[in-house]
Amino acid sequence: MQISHNISLKQHNTFGIDVTAETFYHITTVAQLKKVLSEQKNNALFILGGGSNMLLTQDIKKPVLHIDLKGIEVISETDDNIIIKASAGENWHQFIIHCIHNNYGGLENMSLIPGNVGTAPIQNIGAYGVELKDCFYSCEAIDVNTQETHTFTNKECEFGYRNSIFKNQLKGQFIITSVSFSLTKRNHKLRTGYGAIQEALNANNISTPTIKDISEAVIAIRQSKLPDPNKLGNSGSFFKNPIIDLDGFRTFQQQFPEAPFYKITETQFKIPAGWLIEQAGFKGKRYGDAGVHKNQALVLVNYGNATGQEIWDLAMKVKEAVIKKFGITIAPEVNVF
Ligand code: EPU
Repeated sequence: MQISHNISLKQHNTFGIDVTAETFYHITTVAQLKKVLSEQKNNALFILGGGSNMLLTQDIKKPVLHIDLKGIEVISETDDNIIIKASAGENWHQFIIHCIHNNYGGLENMSLIPGNVGTAPIQNIGAYGVELKDCFYSCEAIDVNTQETHTFTNKECEFGYRNSIFKNQLKGQFIITSVSFSLTKRNHKLRTGYGAIQEALNANNISTPTIKDISEAVIAIRQSKLPDPNKLGNSGSFFKNPIIDLDGFRTFQQQFPEAPFYKITETQFKIPAGWLIEQAGFKGKRYGDAGVHKNQALVLVNYGNATGQEIWDLAMKVKEAVIKKFGITIAPEVNVF
């Protein structure tokens, strides 16, 4: 196991924030992970996967455990379905490419989401009408206190919108080492309901799409709207879309009848934070090297040398402006350290 000291984390977080890790463990086996955990008495650890959903605002004094476990394995299969397991350190998009190549369906709408397989369940990643929970079979995780391996079923993960048990009751208590997915081998359930997907397919004259066609449509949509973290530091959606109750929604709609919304239940309405932020005048705004993306106001970007604090200050400015204009509070989706 490789241990480094005082290294920059700039290459390890998609925001490209330059903070220093005092001690950095590069972990490539579960045995190494268990050993490090058993040696850490107070469990004050910083777990780093793909670094795609975090904003680092200060140097990290705690030991950083970079989970870089690799491997993809078929657990079981029938003519129709497959259970396939990927280690936590596998790149999410590369794993989807592997599945599409083998004609395993289910994950294609989530193509090109940055990050690694192991962090995907923590916030139940999702895009274009599909969430991780729709294909999630189980995950293996190590208890940081006992170093025992625990398997969590879909139900046990308590998935919700960008949420799971790993962000709540079990926060910081388990390290996910692998995730198993239940995918289709034929009769794929294609989800083209999300408007932009159908438009992209029509534009290419595709009437009977394959999972590869859908993946390519999603990639094209994402590339047109969302910045590539390799070119412009970002963490995807910085905020969650706020959910408001019926009373709040009625008032909101009277004032802003043109606003887009998604009805979740009879009494719950989700308002796109990107729309709120754009209306509050922040789309494309730049303050030093911290900015709001020009094509998708929900994404904050680092033009090069922004500090985590500068991104955070911008986020708070945006949040205050949205509260002032709409009376709606938007909460960050990224984890802030
Ligand atoms: N909108 C604006 N201005 C903007 C951005 C959006 O008016 O600057 C409007 C759009 O016109 C549309 C609505 O807001 O009417 C929704 O926009 P979009 O379809 O782009 O989706 P979103 O709600 O902003 C969510 C996810 C994304 C995911 C997309 C597509 C969250 C927090 N974000 O964004 O996820 O890719 O849907 O499914 O739920 C991520 O989590 O990092 C992420 C990128």
